[in-house]
Amino acid sequence: MLSETKNLTWPEFQALSPEEKKPYFNENGKIFHCLHSQQFDREFIDHIYKLTNVIRSISKSKKGALFLQGLMPHYKAMLYFMQPSTRTYLSFRTACQILGIQTSDVRDASISSEVKGETFEDTIRTFSSYFNFIIMRHPKEGYAEQAAYCLNNSERPIPILNAGSGKDQHPTQAILDIYTLIRSFEHHGGLEGKTIILAGDLLRGRTVRSLSKLISFFPGTKLILSSPEKFKMSEDVISFLKEKKVHYTVSHEFVKHLPDADAIYMTRVQDEHDTGNDKSEKSFPEFSLRAEHLPILKEHCAIMHPLPRREELDSAIDNDPRAKYWRQERNGMWARAALMSHITGYDQKIMCYWADICKQANHTADI
Ligand code: CP
Repeated sequence: MLSETKNLTWPEFQALSPEEKKPYFNENGKIFHCLHSQQFDREFIDHIYKLTNVIRSISKSKKGALFLQGLMPHYKAMLYFMQPSTRTYLSFRTACQILGIQTSDVRDASISSEVKGETFEDTIRTFSSYFNFIIMRHPKEGYAEQAAYCLNNSERPIPILNAGSGKDQHPTQAILDIYTLIRSFEHHGGLEGKTIILAGDLLRGRTVRSLSKLISFFPGTKLILSSPEKFKMSEDVISFLKEKKVHYTVSHEFVKHLPDADAIYMTRVQDEHDTGNDKSEKSFPEFSLRAEHLPILKEHCAIMHPLPRREELDSAIDNDPRAKYWRQERNGMWARAALMSHITGYDQKIMCYWADICKQANHTADI
């Protein structure tokens, strides 16, 4: 059972630790609302990895694609995106199509009754009257959690999937990023023990904040947190890394670390979060990966970026086999389909279908 939040005011609830919030976001130990990456563990990541691979394989045939589309035609998802998005919006929508889920969206507050003064809580409850999932991106940190808090006390507590919350978290991006990393090192000894550079605006980059928490599940991984002083990783993530005994280095240099990296995760300046007159530069050339750097990278180095990019990632790199960012964004579609099928329990049917296919073809179901 999902715990009700009615004995707690919103400020009291907000003040709970991620661990204390788990019973409110997980049901019977399983993810229900997907709000931040501290909800995940290694077992969940390994399961989503397998499931993503299985969904990707099944959907290659017409028969398989029709099987997947037949799973959830009775489900409907609201895509509530109050910040611009290309990839997250489209990959969630396509993930829904893969599973047969119907979608609607609100992408502009000016066409919602919020302009008439409707509260955020009433807006969310209204969505829950029509839909089985709310996939939401919001510029305010904590709003996805507040939506879950509100619905837990209603008669229709449907899952909230955080598709990006302010500068704070982007947990489903972290799922596809860790999937891409694991897949990249499948034939290179696994992700354990690898050195990963996270570069750019680490202070306001919600993707790197969420991802660094998942990296802690892989023993021996080393993080190089490379950013200008002004955009260094914030203390809450550093404390998390310390607590989990993750080996990390904070550096204000970039190029000198490149030869050591097994993976490089670039990010752009997140200037949409600029406040007042303190305007950020559009990019920082000294934290940019350019074609001239390719010769000093390891042969198997995975180059990643959550996209969109600016000058920090040279488009001349795009056709290098080490560039994983186009695959990374495609992985988002499969990984999000895996997540939604897991939350609803349809993952069991998918795994059984896969096991049957493997049995018929006389090969192992391991993937
Ligand atoms: N990676 C990512 O969140 O991209 P969008 O902003 O285009 O959704």
